[in-house]
Amino acid sequence: MKVTINTNKQTKQLGDLFGIFFEDINHAADGGLYAELVQNRSFEFAPIDNKKYHFLTAWEQIGRAKLFVEAAHPFCQKNPHYLVMEIKQEGETAGVQNLGFNSGMFLQAGAEYYFTCYARSESVQEIQASIRNWDGVVQDEVRIRINSDWNKYEAVFTATENTTEGRLAVTFVGAGAVELDFVSLFPKDTYKGRRNGLRKDLAEKLEALHPKFMRFPGGCLIHDGSLNPDDRDAQYRWKNSVGPVEQRPARRNNWQYNQTLGLGYFEYFQFCEDIGAKPLPVIPGGYDPHHFNAADGALLQGFIDDALDLIEFANGDENTKWGALRASMGHPAPFHMEYIGIGNEEIGQAFFDRYPLFHKAIKEKYPDIKVIGTSGPFAAGIEYDKGWESAKAEHADLVDEHYYQSPDWFLANHHRYDDFPVNGPKVFLGEYASHGNTWYNALCEASFMIGLQNAPAVELACYAPLFCNVDYVNWRPDMIWYDNARVYLTPNYYIQQMFMEHQGDVLLEQQVEQQEENYVISRHPDSLPGMFALGCDDSIIEYSEIFVVNEDTNKVHLFQDQTVGHKDNKEVELGSIPFKNYTICLKATEVKGKKGMRIIFGRQDKKNQLFWQLGGWANTDSLIGEDINGRNSCLSQRERKIEQNRTYELEIHVRGRKIETYVDGSLELSLEAKPVIMEPVYISSSLEEKTGNVIVKMVNTTPMEQKVDISFEGELGGWEGTAYYMDGFKQGSFNSFAYPTAVVSKQRKFETETATITWTMPQESVYILRLKQK
Ligand code: AHR
Repeated sequence: MKVTINTNKQTKQLGDLFGIFFEDINHAADGGLYAELVQNRSFEFAPIDNKKYHFLTAWEQIGRAKLFVEAAHPFCQKNPHYLVMEIKQEGETAGVQNLGFNSGMFLQAGAEYYFTCYARSESVQEIQASIRNWDGVVQDEVRIRINSDWNKYEAVFTATENTTEGRLAVTFVGAGAVELDFVSLFPKDTYKGRRNGLRKDLAEKLEALHPKFMRFPGGCLIHDGSLNPDDRDAQYRWKNSVGPVEQRPARRNNWQYNQTLGLGYFEYFQFCEDIGAKPLPVIPGGYDPHHFNAADGALLQGFIDDALDLIEFANGDENTKWGALRASMGHPAPFHMEYIGIGNEEIGQAFFDRYPLFHKAIKEKYPDIKVIGTSGPFAAGIEYDKGWESAKAEHADLVDEHYYQSPDWFLANHHRYDDFPVNGPKVFLGEYASHGNTWYNALCEASFMIGLQNAPAVELACYAPLFCNVDYVNWRPDMIWYDNARVYLTPNYYIQQMFMEHQGDVLLEQQVEQQEENYVISRHPDSLPGMFALGCDDSIIEYSEIFVVNEDTNKVHLFQDQTVGHKDNKEVELGSIPFKNYTICLKATEVKGKKGMRIIFGRQDKKNQLFWQLGGWANTDSLIGEDINGRNSCLSQRERKIEQNRTYELEIHVRGRKIETYVDGSLELSLEAKPVIMEPVYISSSLEEKTGNVIVKMVNTTPMEQKVDISFEGELGGWEGTAYYMDGFKQGSFNSFAYPTAVVSKQRKFETETATITWTMPQESVYILRLKQK
């Protein structure tokens, strides 16, 4: 392969292209990046967060005391519950201890820990707080005098031993009752030494990525919940997450746990500043698409005000209301926010009606802020198209796309954005990942990222999700895995890091000459022949009037009626369709269940097939899926509810690799199942302005070695440089606590005497060359 790079011709500003997305999913904040060691510090955990929770979740009793949780006279109305501990017996020692997250608190010998609590008592004068091992051995202890008013008490502990099963205990001696709230233990050694700060090892892993921006705080996290910000299950409203930490309402997180909001908007902005990433907050757009609740009137205005006030909080001077709050929290200078996302994956008229109100209000007051709309949770389909149409009509600056697909999909869709229009909203790929954390996943993502960098319309992109605590998994794959003491990075992390650290500022013009053949994975790159089968998903379906038309000969093939879904009869194979162009017609009725029908076609074997699923997930979707080597992708998706006992007339039109499906004569889904093809090497070249370095990124996804001749127009001398690379791994290799460095990036220096470089790319490898003329 040959590439000629013109170092004087710049084709695209790369700007903030590669960034990160932080969402409090998988205990990414509490029990993750937020360094608080106490779980349920305000006694606010409740079944509304998670059916298994109660007010004393993560707390254990010590000794004989009566424990109960009250809300009669709290010190903080937003977190009204507090613990009452009552000892009847004079001389007895009793109280509680907190178990932290995972196996307990990670305490390190010699390290200091800030202890905080609120307490009061009419009868008891002293409480004892201590850090301990799981077996009760006390490492450090403090006695604190308390009185009958709610007061804040603080102390510093020094650990004497290493343990990952540490406890924080609060006890007292003698008859009486003590009321206790907001019990906190924080390592002193947080990222940048901040109080209420971030877990250092995890924050440093993010810093080391060199992200250009950080999208936060979600995800579904932001839009799922009550529209009233004061409700216990409210959507994520940023104003709840700022100000004194004990006043922030601990509330339901839609990922089935409780979030303290201790890591709130101020801390997010500060962290972005610390790591040199531009903040990209996403706020709810006055609509909960999970429960179809939409705000109107004053309620909706509250959301719009939130958007305007957030910009003031980030950028306003100290004389503004919200700028003053930021200053009072310790940051008088503005945070220079440039982007705001309205909504996460919202689609449907309710959102399309509301987005323009946000957009107009923001642009009127802050014309330079880039406002981001959304195309929903699907990679393609009617709702996706409508999301884009609406964003275009409203002149959104960017459109946030999300998809999670097989690695094969990322290969097949390398050129997805090549022809996206550059006038109008730009692409913000706000969430993407291939299904897995193996080297092959990372490799295919790398090839796709070359496409993102080269596509003129793509402005921002970030992998998702970022973090996962191994003991609290909501979602996989994830980029960084940890427990209370350890962390390991995935192959995907190293790819992201290489692309962010060596992004460059401007894309350089390059001409690629390919002499080698593409490496084709799809067995039938021009058609979709294969077995035709009927199935179901937790339902009983009656299929009738089934026939297939060979569109090249007009010959009709009839099949018998079928009922699927009884015990041993989840699917029936009807026969092979060997044609290039064909139409499948049938009627389908769901007589029992609620997950609809599944029509399989183009089946080579059960791991390589296409299917149309109607009424899938929570009976909300209709989608065309593709399995390649057992790895699934969703090619196109739209909303659809299947009604029981209603007969649907269904058709699937296959023309080569183009597929259209119809329900009762109306077009439902239309797409091309792109063949999975590997080009010999994917290449992108950029220039980093401050160093003058030319950066050449190359990805070889094929199982063969590839040679690339790199020449430069107008550059005559030799080069010195560093190669940052990943190669030599088996496709299925991955990292773990046991083998955290099985797949890592490496680097080596090199130099050339000539301006032309011949680079040998080993099979399945990623190389980034950072070059400087000698
Ligand atoms: O990244 C995990 C989830 O995937 C996000 O919360 C949501 O936006 C998407 O559906």
